[in-house]
Amino acid sequence: MQDKAQQDQPRAEAEDASAASSVGPTKRVFIKTYGCQMNVYDSQRMGDALAAAGYAPQDEAENADLVILNTCHIREKAAEKVYSELGRLAPLAAAKKRNGGKMAIAVAGCVAQAEGEEIMRRQPLVDVVVGPQAYHRLPEMAARARSGARTVDTEFPTEDKFDHLPTPKTARRLAPTAFLTVQEGCDKFCAFCVVPYTRGAEVSRPVRKILAEAERLVTGGVREITLLGQNVNAYHGAGEDGVDWGLAQLIRRLAEIDGLDLIRYTTSHPRDMDDALIAAHAEIPKLAPYLHLPVQAGSDKVLKAMNRGHTAADYVRLVERIRAARPDIALSGDFIVGFPGETEEDFEATLALVREVRYAQAFSFKYSSRPGTPAADRPQIDEAEKADRLARLQALLGEQQRAFMEACVGREMPVLIEKKGREQGQMVGRSPYLQPTHLLAPAESRGEILRVRIVGAGTNSLAAELV
Ligand code: 5AD
Ligand code: SF4
Repeated sequence: MQDKAQQDQPRAEAEDASAASSVGPTKRVFIKTYGCQMNVYDSQRMGDALAAAGYAPQDEAENADLVILNTCHIREKAAEKVYSELGRLAPLAAAKKRNGGKMAIAVAGCVAQAEGEEIMRRQPLVDVVVGPQAYHRLPEMAARARSGARTVDTEFPTEDKFDHLPTPKTARRLAPTAFLTVQEGCDKFCAFCVVPYTRGAEVSRPVRKILAEAERLVTGGVREITLLGQNVNAYHGAGEDGVDWGLAQLIRRLAEIDGLDLIRYTTSHPRDMDDALIAAHAEIPKLAPYLHLPVQAGSDKVLKAMNRGHTAADYVRLVERIRAARPDIALSGDFIVGFPGETEEDFEATLALVREVRYAQAFSFKYSSRPGTPAADRPQIDEAEKADRLARLQALLGEQQRAFMEACVGREMPVLIEKKGREQGQMVGRSPYLQPTHLLAPAESRGEILRVRIVGAGTNSLAAELV
């Protein structure tokens, strides 16, 4: 997974989600999303399920009838953050009660899954604790909350929650980009990671359902779809012909949809980057030349201790094959510094790998011990040492990102226009390499793919002119 909801959230939002309700909204829901893109997608689907039950979305907690915290457990005191957010909701819930109403409070997502009953015990305010596999039952749980019942549902059901979650209504005007979950869960068990415990075993959705959802999105105005999965390239869903399809075959089929112009996928594991998927990058023009391929570390000893199932050399060879297939591909990655047992020499191997691979963008983190994961009980690296390594790694990754941005200047490329910019007449889109790109263009160009020339590069965004 990729922990960048904050950056990417606006692009995933529907323009006018309130139009989705067919019942006539009588109640209001506020959903706060933490963590990865998977959570952004899940929040949208919870919103859809609740809209069908008469809830209109609002963008603040005050006076809401239902507040949902869609939480993340991947790093750092995640649970503590949730408890303090719940504390901040207390006066709002009390005010609502004084006015004769009820603010139902639900904790969803990975903290809900990991903490379960404990949340109810510690915070009497909470009415619903719901894990990522039970969102389709939210309307029912919210209704019960209104009559005073508290519900904890963190089961991993055998039924498919997607069968019960209404898909977005095509009538509403959607943002030009959308997420579509094709796979959930993880069987890899990296020694640092909570995902296999909070999201459960790896499950792929059938091709038929993904196609139906993609077609609805495109009909609603979506032009770019990012396929999501904690281990998206391990995708193996039932195909149209009854046998399992891999991700490459799914992408090939999606590329046949008229009006869908750009396909992305995230997050991939190096071990699942098979020949068919590499070939897809060479052969499918709609597949964006951008790949998020976390390596986590550059030392074989650390990779082994992390249970990653590949060496640094395996990764470098893989990158060479991908670049041979699609020479202009931009790579992004995730890194962890200060994993238990990481020496200065091990850390330098990470720096060496970064120098060799050259990333366009990357996310890097200090190792954070997660209760219940294998690495949690191993002797830990000193915090100051971790901070020092992180600063050194980020300096190098920052240099590479700047170099990549600057190398874009002077090039022509297609940009999908997503929204208005801050300045008069300005529009903002994304380059094929996911860089936010600003240019002067008509407001009606929203949702269009414009040919632009890059004329300037900042740290995180590009400036462009129409060609
Ligand atoms: N500590 C630090 N970083 C972590 N990640 C996952 N678990 C941890 C942890 N316990 C990082 C990995 C992963 C990204 C989403 O978050 O780099 O790829
Ligand atoms: Fe976590 Fe590793 Fe699975 Fe990624 S592959 S979700 S890091 S266990």
